[in-house]
Amino acid sequence: MKPTTVVIFGASGDLTQRKLVPALFNLLRKGRLPEELHIVGFARRPWDDAEFRGRMRSGVEEHSAGSFDAGLWEQMSARIHYFQGHLEAREDFKRLSTVLAEIEGGPADRLYYLATAPEYYAPVAASLGAAGLTDEHAGVRRLVVEKPFGRDLTTARALNEQLHAVLEEHQIYRIDHYLGKETAQNILFFRFANTIFEPVWNRNYVASVQVTVAEDVDVGHRAGYYETAGVLRDIFQNHLLQLLALVAMEPPASFNADAIRNEKVKLLSAIRPLTSDDIANHAVRAQYRRYRDAEGVAPNSLTPTYAAVRLSIDNWRWQGVPFYLRSGKALHTKTTQIVVQFVRPPHMMFNLPPGHRLASNTLSLCIQPDEGIHLKFGAKVPDSAQEIRPVNMEFHYRESFGNGALPDAYERLLLDALNGDASLFTRSDEIEAAWRLIDPLLTAWEQPDGAPMFFYESGTEGPTSADALLARDDRRWLPGCEH
Ligand code: BG6
Repeated sequence: MKPTTVVIFGASGDLTQRKLVPALFNLLRKGRLPEELHIVGFARRPWDDAEFRGRMRSGVEEHSAGSFDAGLWEQMSARIHYFQGHLEAREDFKRLSTVLAEIEGGPADRLYYLATAPEYYAPVAASLGAAGLTDEHAGVRRLVVEKPFGRDLTTARALNEQLHAVLEEHQIYRIDHYLGKETAQNILFFRFANTIFEPVWNRNYVASVQVTVAEDVDVGHRAGYYETAGVLRDIFQNHLLQLLALVAMEPPASFNADAIRNEKVKLLSAIRPLTSDDIANHAVRAQYRRYRDAEGVAPNSLTPTYAAVRLSIDNWRWQGVPFYLRSGKALHTKTTQIVVQFVRPPHMMFNLPPGHRLASNTLSLCIQPDEGIHLKFGAKVPDSAQEIRPVNMEFHYRESFGNGALPDAYERLLLDALNGDASLFTRSDEIEAAWRLIDPLLTAWEQPDGAPMFFYESGTEGPTSADALLARDDRRWLPGCEH
């Protein structure tokens, strides 16, 4: 077996210590890594192997879910190396090539991981190409690219072109860590490994779909980055649209990366582009009140920390079904959920008390934190004549599979990238289709006289204008996974 090397660019950053190396450690512990795996951290800081290993060790101790094992760590640590280099210095990549050849001692497979600031993605890829490091004659060469992938359609296209100048599409793995979450992966299993839900998964039975990514944390020390991103670039273009694609796409013929991604692209392309009228009437932006006080945020910043949008999908399955998407920071709780609301019975034969309306059946896919699936339906209240009350049937991962059954998303993603399975990574056309949808909103909201900016208090459910958005359709946000 050839050795495998994971080269992490920007290895002194938080991601390496908090996510990447702990995920690799857990994979080693589970016996899932190639037999000879080297990790090379590339960064500017004047560290040596010992210093880098020490830092990685504390990362693993802290973040590998209580599964630290000193013996195993020694084994892994012996194959961790530090390379001091500049991301913009071409000659450093030549030096890197020599160092890698020494470490590997022969042909090897390599995974390059771009854990750098986004402005380095293209230069690093170009330098890898120029140094002959993307050439696949001695083993596979794959590149993992972190988000954000571009800041709009034009820049995402340009980045795709820059990467394609040195790499084939099959060598590029664009990360959206939501796709690595077990519960997001389970959406396809839930829909296509069961027979009872798919027949009702369409406009005949579904009244609306609500997708929420709510966070209780505010922007914290990331205000500098966030100010240039906002919730549309940070969550909507990637995580939210990916969840929407999984919940609404057609069944692929096979569980293979291209089959899945073809369907996702078809779905994203079927979403009706937002017109200025849609943006005015079916989209809301807001900011938590204290956002402008954060360091690095302009006093008159128009960066939304919250948005809610209504989308429509123009295809046979979903024509006429509204999809409501919302996300925000500094809200009262952290929850990611998809609520599928079913239509009401066509005829009501029970006598409901005056003013009462039968609650819809809902199916909630609870992505986090209490991972599971809830089905809500009406039941007769015992000892009443005709009273109906909603009850919940619940599946919880922790109950069915035990605590600790849910690995961190990066474990799955790194393993898949090492094995060459791109199903959970975003293809170039998919990322562009997502930007194509978000661009009109970005443009509209970046105009000085754009849509109104609403404000909400931290720790609340967000702006009331987001409730008004649904009230106009005679709906409300459904609690879904929250009780
Ligand atoms: C990241 C965003 O992609 O996702 C962050 O940049 C956000 O702003 C995070 O907090 C949320 O991820 P998770 O896994 O905590 O839901």
